[in-house]
Amino acid sequence: MYMHGSSLINDKGHLEIGGVDTIELANKYGTPLFVYDVALIKERAEQFQEAFREEGVNYQVAYASKAFSCIAMFQLADELGLSLDVVSGGELYTAIQAGVPMERIHFHGNNKSLAELEMAVESGIGCVVVDNFYELKQLGHICARHDVKMDILLRITPGVEAHTHDYISTGQEDSKFGFDLESGQVDQAIQLSLLDPHINLLGIHSHIGSQIFETSGFVMAVEKIFEFIEKWREELGFTPSVLNLGGGFGIRYIEGDTPLPVGEYVRKMVHVIKEKAAAHQMEIPEIWIEPGRSLVGDAGTTLYSIGSRKEIPNVRHYLSVDGGMSDNLRPALYQAEYEGILANRADEETTETFSIAGKCCESGDMLIWDLPLPKASHEDVLAVFCTGAYGYSMANNYNRIPRPPVVFVEKGEAQLVIQRESYEDLVRLDLPLKQVMKQM
Ligand code: LLP
Repeated sequence: MYMHGSSLINDKGHLEIGGVDTIELANKYGTPLFVYDVALIKERAEQFQEAFREEGVNYQVAYASKAFSCIAMFQLADELGLSLDVVSGGELYTAIQAGVPMERIHFHGNNKSLAELEMAVESGIGCVVVDNFYELKQLGHICARHDVKMDILLRITPGVEAHTHDYISTGQEDSKFGFDLESGQVDQAIQLSLLDPHINLLGIHSHIGSQIFETSGFVMAVEKIFEFIEKWREELGFTPSVLNLGGGFGIRYIEGDTPLPVGEYVRKMVHVIKEKAAAHQMEIPEIWIEPGRSLVGDAGTTLYSIGSRKEIPNVRHYLSVDGGMSDNLRPALYQAEYEGILANRADEETTETFSIAGKCCESGDMLIWDLPLPKASHEDVLAVFCTGAYGYSMANNYNRIPRPPVVFVEKGEAQLVIQRESYEDLVRLDLPLKQVMKQM
């Protein structure tokens, strides 16, 4: 079994992460439970930054916080020298509560509300990644009212198809995100930005998709952008001082996934940008990236208790766990695949094949099809690996199932960073039916 980061099997035969026995965690905090290997997050952040340092370019690595956002995670990102990419007022609010320096926050989104733009301007965030003409205009008005000048990037769709699931592919021409490059929308957006005294156009942003295993898509995006740079310089007097190539660096969920070491994505991007900049006799722009999944994805493991079983002779053997699509939507949404083991019998041979069902009232709530395990029963704890990105952050209350807690583990210590949602939490926003309606 492939073990991520600091995961290992201890002498009790239990899965241990960050020097902490996961069965002790399950007993203390209950299941389902998200466990994050902090050392692995630190290692990844360092690998991204080291690659940039070695290349000797100016850079920012912004954590795409949609992958997993909470106050402690934002504080960790800040400690690691990461900037923060937020995509909503809620993520920005979390960053404010976390005490993250506002100038390191980048605000994304294809439909930021006026209230969100206002909040971004009032908080003094570092940069707005402007997605469309409506937003550009509104942002200009808001900045004028506050008498400030906001740094922006223009998000473009470079017309590059990333080799990934359609739902997480964003760089193709027919996308809801960004200004279209080929049709001249980007040229027009640059022109408008340059004319607005309250807008400071830093550069260009492109994000081609997610869970990408190759560098070719990033290279093509850079090439596309540079095809236009000469024109922008000559016709508009604009040269980008920042190029943001987004996130999307893949991770290993299952055997057969073949991501590159994170530094390799960075080096390839930097090389092609250096080469193109030299060819166009321009200074190497500052290079920004926005990894989400590759910083936190394989650092996260979910612990579930196994409950009921159903064996259909000669067909399938189901094991149901105490969570499912309420804490991990990815299998139902993207047919995403995961691996797992029995955390309490991690050293035992796998002799059977089970399909792992969630507890939601939905046939599609299957976490893993055909998982080899030892003979398992309701005494056992199932650990599902690589749930750190888009697991908790896409968790929901379908069937009014409370969201699980989250612990960070490192060097033998565990820290609770998100509490388990309670039944009281679930009804907190509900209001009782008025008397008059009851009588109708
Ligand atoms: N930057 C932008 C503009 C993005 O839209 C995204 C992800 C990222 C960065 C970070 O991408 P990452 O490094 O995490 O791949 N819920 C889906 C993924 C949606 C990605 C949305 N945008 C999933 O569970 O696979």
